[in-house]
Amino acid sequence: MTLALLRETHPHERRVALAPAHLAALTRLGLTLRVQSGAGVGAGFPDSAYAEAGADVVGSAQEAVEGARVVLRIRPPRVTGPDEEVSWLPDGVALVTHLSPGHEPGLEEALWNRNVLPLALERVPRTTRAQRMDVLSSQATVSGYAAVLRSATLLPRLFPMLTTAAGTLPPAKVLVLGAGVAGLQAIASARRLGAAVAGYDIREAAREQIRSLGAQALEESVQAESEGGYARSLSSDEKDRQLAFLASHVKDMDVVITTAQIPGRPAPILITQEMVESMRPGSVIMDLAAETGGNCAVSQPGETVFHHAVHVDAPLGLPSAQAEHASLMFGRNIVALLEHMFQGTEGGVPRLDLDDEILGAMAVTRPATTTDVAQAEGGSHG
Ligand code: NAI
Repeated sequence: MTLALLRETHPHERRVALAPAHLAALTRLGLTLRVQSGAGVGAGFPDSAYAEAGADVVGSAQEAVEGARVVLRIRPPRVTGPDEEVSWLPDGVALVTHLSPGHEPGLEEALWNRNVLPLALERVPRTTRAQRMDVLSSQATVSGYAAVLRSATLLPRLFPMLTTAAGTLPPAKVLVLGAGVAGLQAIASARRLGAAVAGYDIREAAREQIRSLGAQALEESVQAESEGGYARSLSSDEKDRQLAFLASHVKDMDVVITTAQIPGRPAPILITQEMVESMRPGSVIMDLAAETGGNCAVSQPGETVFHHAVHVDAPLGLPSAQAEHASLMFGRNIVALLEHMFQGTEGGVPRLDLDDEILGAMAVTRPATTTDVAQAEGGSHG
């Protein structure tokens, strides 16, 4: 059974979905890997490293996917234009990739027309069993760390308190809004650099985690945890109270790192333009929610704006900043998924049982073999 590993084509993407170090696990499953030349270069893995680990390196994406049963990549394929990447996917292949955020219009239909089964990585359920396959968590860890380094570089002040012959410098004040996976990593990383760190979240469990990292947890009355343990959207009254509370803290901060997300919805605005303008010149807002619109009203996704002498940075694809480790973590998640699909099949046909709690959640459209959907669609996919 052959898997294909493709080179990412998005201009800012440097990661790769599998590293040479993961080949041994594939071999144990009886799988062979065909790699498009250059796939790992952005993450520091040359073709020779894949070849030495036992992969077959080929020149083009079309050659890589020929006869493959599973195609692996990080970003979704392009649907239109001279570089479109759907028409040459093999009939019946399973495509393991992120489908959103920011996927191209018409992608799901194009994949359906090609009889491709998309397994969307962002849909891996947040359960204990699926945790090893959860790329959102592994990549959020990298983002939280990278956000702190980026903020420290933009800030014209130092993070740690220093007492030197040239005077005493106070520690930078860093506030992290949203203490999920990325936020907690940002808190830990900012503390390691010596900043005075506070965190804020609307889930009580997150407040405890902020305190357990030795940071101050900002407390106010809004608590908004949904049944699944995630944050829920706030009512307009709750939003007003939250913004008034945050405004009283943001103005004193050197750096605000925002990571707040509501699953399946645009990111909530936590920093208004007035709040940005209340900060000291040179201060930094690092908006990690840019992929879903951003937590700051001034943010321009993918850009660094200098507004009222404050840097408002809203990076996209932040895990690519540490592409090697991000890819190693991503690849480990993919190996866990492949083990789930192939364990016990000895390199045979993957288990693509859509009643399975993990694969069923990841499958965006149903493949041709699933007669019930084909009948419901009344199409030619039976
Ligand atoms: P996320 O990326 O969806 O959101 C980030 C944070 O923003 C969350 O902590 C959320 O509470 C917070 N937030 C949302 N709206 C806010 C607002 N208006 N004001 C302030 N904060 C706001 O979250 P992430 O990182 O995906 O994790 C969320 C939860 O899921 C955590 O409890 C985490 O431990 C859990 N989790 C469970 C996993 C598993 O069991 N496999 C894997 C990853 C996370």
